[in-house]
Amino acid sequence: MCGNRHAEITDLPESGAEGVLAGPAESGIFAARSMRIDILSAVPRLLDSWFGESILQRAQQKGLVEVVVHDLRQWSTDKHRRLDDNPFGGGAGMVMAIEPIHRAITQLKSEREYAEVIYLSPDGQLLDQPLANQLSTKGNLIMLCGHYKGVDERVREHLVDREVSIGDYVLTGGELAAAVLCDTIIRIIPGVIGDETSALSDSFQDGLVAPPTYTRPADYQGWKVPDVLLSGHQAKVDEWRHQQAVERTRQRRPGLLSGEE
Ligand code: ADE
Repeated sequence: MCGNRHAEITDLPESGAEGVLAGPAESGIFAARSMRIDILSAVPRLLDSWFGESILQRAQQKGLVEVVVHDLRQWSTDKHRRLDDNPFGGGAGMVMAIEPIHRAITQLKSEREYAEVIYLSPDGQLLDQPLANQLSTKGNLIMLCGHYKGVDERVREHLVDREVSIGDYVLTGGELAAAVLCDTIIRIIPGVIGDETSALSDSFQDGLVAPPTYTRPADYQGWKVPDVLLSGHQAKVDEWRHQQAVERTRQRRPGLLSGEE
């Protein structure tokens, strides 16, 4: 899908014109980063809080990942910095033009290597845990968020390697989808979640949904925690958890057991 040769672009914006989320790597604090994700958006502010808080922020501070959100308008040559235009052939809705997107991707690729350019789209490959696992082992990624009626089809044909959907419903733009995709990818990078094993015991990692979990108190107003979890017998606990996971999967997501999902 991805064309390798792109036209030469001369008047690119200054490097470093990227969004507020440029992480410590920009200041040279962390020498090596395992992964960098660049998000191209017409509304970058939508993503500020998502990457500026909690686990994802700490992952960036630890130098495990860097997320840089870019305002696509900086690559627009239109005097009003417009990104969209009317569709050829008429019809409702605006279409995101190819040129600013091409300029953005070309600039980023001239600065570093990228494993994939991903376009978030409701008709893309459905996101699931195996896809998140696969993408988390890749190198740097570019994520392109669509808006309006989507992007000019030539972007999809020539500039994008993969299209990902987060579900069979239509959002107002790709930003939420990019945030979801980033979250699933980043949280399974080793070191991001404190307990190394906890991401691996998530629902779906072994094709099963997660078993029930409990914490103190062991008896809350008569609602009791299963005895086996208090037994101190780890082999029995593991066996119980596995049985619960299988039973829950059978009840809630039988397609996972029969291979239909
Ligand atoms: N853009 C709009 N809706 C979307 C969806 N469901 N998944 C990914 N990107 C989208």
